[in-house]
Amino acid sequence: MRIYRRSEIRSFLVLGIAVGLAIGVMVVPWPGPVATPTQREIHINARQFAFEPARLRVNRGDQVTLIFHPTDVVHGLYLEGYGVNLKAVPGESAQATFVADRAGKFRYRCSVSCGSLHPFMIGELVVGPNAFPWRASALAIIAALGTVAFLYVRAWEASR
Ligand code: CUA
Repeated sequence: MRIYRRSEIRSFLVLGIAVGLAIGVMVVPWPGPVATPTQREIHINARQFAFEPARLRVNRGDQVTLIFHPTDVVHGLYLEGYGVNLKAVPGESAQATFVADRAGKFRYRCSVSCGSLHPFMIGELVVGPNAFPWRASALAIIAALGTVAFLYVRAWEASR
């Protein structure tokens, strides 16, 4: 049977902690609120040349009502992927309701020629939840810290 030196045991301990943390990240439940489908009313203001908000996030399955309010000139809102197209004059609003049953990122853009920067009136709807980026980035951080700690322990042992 092989006898492990103390320095090797320390290195294995560091690796073990890193692997344990990584497994923990993989199995821990999504830390946000539980994504039961809900009804959402989202107000979107539009002015030359931006939507406010320019980024929306809903959960898959939500019933979403967009209420669209131009504030300066006539604007439109065309939502890719869902075929929603709204148009309103300032002071009035337009609305549409849909079920966010397709996950992913969908751009919405102005559909009425409203001025020089009209083509840049863009927003983004994110239909989630998507735990993957959170877990992937946490794993990357653990892997990096684990590698650094492992090398540090090895170097420290070698210097003694
Ligand atoms: Cu706003 Cu085109």
